[in-house]
Amino acid sequence: MRIDKMLANLGYGSRKEVKQLLKSGAVKVNDVIVKDAKQHVDPNKETVALNGDVIEYKEFIYLMMNKPQGVLSATEDNSCETVIDLLELEDQVYEPFPVGRLDKDTEGLLLITNDGQLSHRLLSPKKHVPKTYFAVIDQEVTDADVRAFAEGVTLDDGYKTKPGELKILKSGLRSDIELTITEGKFHQVKRMFESVGKKVVYLQRISMGPLKLDETLELGEYRELTDEEIELLIEYQVK
Ligand code: URA
Repeated sequence: MRIDKMLANLGYGSRKEVKQLLKSGAVKVNDVIVKDAKQHVDPNKETVALNGDVIEYKEFIYLMMNKPQGVLSATEDNSCETVIDLLELEDQVYEPFPVGRLDKDTEGLLLITNDGQLSHRLLSPKKHVPKTYFAVIDQEVTDADVRAFAEGVTLDDGYKTKPGELKILKSGLRSDIELTITEGKFHQVKRMFESVGKKVVYLQRISMGPLKLDETLELGEYRELTDEEIELLIEYQVK
């Protein structure tokens, strides 16, 4: 790729500003000053340095966030903070976006990437990627609910869901459950419980396909996926 494009992509300025940088002699490729904005570099093989500091280039970025309540799973919004606002600027320059949506009041695992193809495949209804949620329900959850979810339940708009796997962790005046679903209809978990007359009072996503929420991440924190997690995701989406 062209050196000016690479530097601009990484957030070192507009193409024009980057041209100035190059002109000033601040950029070296393999220890040789490069002033020509049109020069091509292979960021995987050649070392590019700016003012002596080696620049790390990657095309794609893959982040796992423990989404807190109160922020939107969107890239921008006029009135509300988004998950992208929570990222460091050095990660924002990759222009990542959340893969799918969690409600404003839902916490937990959110994948954020700029890899459109991966995102598209993970969200494709044909892929049936399982997503597991932990939830607290406002009343007793019963074996009848487990059976109803296993059959598929009818939502308020008449849509019959695909089977969901409901596990009761604790049943009582409030119940703790885990629910695995393979679709992503709007407010799906909340509406599935509404269909059996119950209310979700807390919702957290704990896994998506092969990815599990890293429990060492505090709410609002994020980290890059490990190489192993990226491989798992890539293997998963080509299946
Ligand atoms: N189901 C919901 O109801 N909300 C979410 O955020 C995710 C799944």
